[in-house]
Amino acid sequence: MWNTIAAAPADAIFGLTEAFKKDPNPTKVNLGVGVYQDENGLTPVLDCVKAAEKLLLDEEASKNYLPISGDAVYAAEVQRLLFGDATEVVSSGRAVTVHTPGGTGALRVGGELLKKFRPTARVWISRPTWANHRGVFTASGFPLAEYDYYDPAGHGLDFAGMLASLRQVPAGDIVLLHACCHNPSGVDLSPEQWREVAALSRERGWLAFLDFAYQGLGDGVEADRCAVEVFAAGGADFFVASSFSKNFGLYNERTGALTIVSPNTAEAAVAMSHLKATVRVIYSNPPAHGGLVVAKVLSTPELHRQWLAELAAMRDRIKEMRAALVEGLARRGVAGDFSYITAQRGMFSFSGLNDAIVEQLRTEKGIYMVGGGRINLAGLRTANIDFVCDAIAEILRR
Ligand code: LMR
Repeated sequence: MWNTIAAAPADAIFGLTEAFKKDPNPTKVNLGVGVYQDENGLTPVLDCVKAAEKLLLDEEASKNYLPISGDAVYAAEVQRLLFGDATEVVSSGRAVTVHTPGGTGALRVGGELLKKFRPTARVWISRPTWANHRGVFTASGFPLAEYDYYDPAGHGLDFAGMLASLRQVPAGDIVLLHACCHNPSGVDLSPEQWREVAALSRERGWLAFLDFAYQGLGDGVEADRCAVEVFAAGGADFFVASSFSKNFGLYNERTGALTIVSPNTAEAAVAMSHLKATVRVIYSNPPAHGGLVVAKVLSTPELHRQWLAELAAMRDRIKEMRAALVEGLARRGVAGDFSYITAQRGMFSFSGLNDAIVEQLRTEKGIYMVGGGRINLAGLRTANIDFVCDAIAEILRR
């Protein structure tokens, strides 16, 4: 069957992890895939997760199917995390949530659902965006278009360009927005800018689809939800894809959620009916474990507090590594101002290193980063920061 078929290219991010694993270089450094590593280079299970898992193991009485939408406590806790306590959008019932296999699953379920009801729409993605956004929405059958986002010269947000692009988006099209910790650039909108974008979406009639994979890794759980709050306050339809891979360290449990917010409860009920119909024909109903862990942690006050503290520790360590990288490059006299790296948010930085340098760092030094110069700051630690700064300084000086 396969002898006339060319192999598919390796994935831009997971392919890099495979190459890293095979590399025998003892000083190799993985700054590629967006996975948190601690000061020892490990990706540990959070203590709050371990504690919740112990409770769940004792309590578990059955492995019966979950509902198509997943565990009800999980959905309620996802909404509390998205919108805050006692908010109108939750109490009115105009938000509906299903547990999906990871944030990617949420995007894809959303894509499949939208294709049914917006068959002629285009999906607008930021330039640049996470490589898999293209794959997910193309696979759902959508043509893609790009809106301006990142300003490579200023290493910041091209907000005027973004607004100009979004003004061209026709009513009915779908705009994919990174709610916080933009992947790959680390460049986010301010609350005021979010208000402008949300107002534009209402005015122009396009649908916002917020990808919210890093809640809590920017400035904190509440500060990071600004985009969601702004869109919720606007009262129009929008979608949110959540992920607990990063902020709970539940990478391999595939724990995500798709939330659809509608203008009223009656429409939300219709949205939920179609969400369930969509899920049923893809994976029927979600895997239980990750969702039950998140529900247990978030609904148990002591574990919730512990999670917030563990999340803050991850966030703070990443910020320390941003500062250490900027300081390390400056100390080595590398030309240019890299201070924009500390202004960026989340796991990633668009380092400003071009593809030729990224290639040299990988082949000569065993330092892996994603094409375009995206660095996962969480791959840096005290033990490797000097090596990485030396390598970048040496290659940039050539
Ligand atoms: C990343 O961007 O590295 C992560 O979101 C992992 C992934 O699925 O690509």
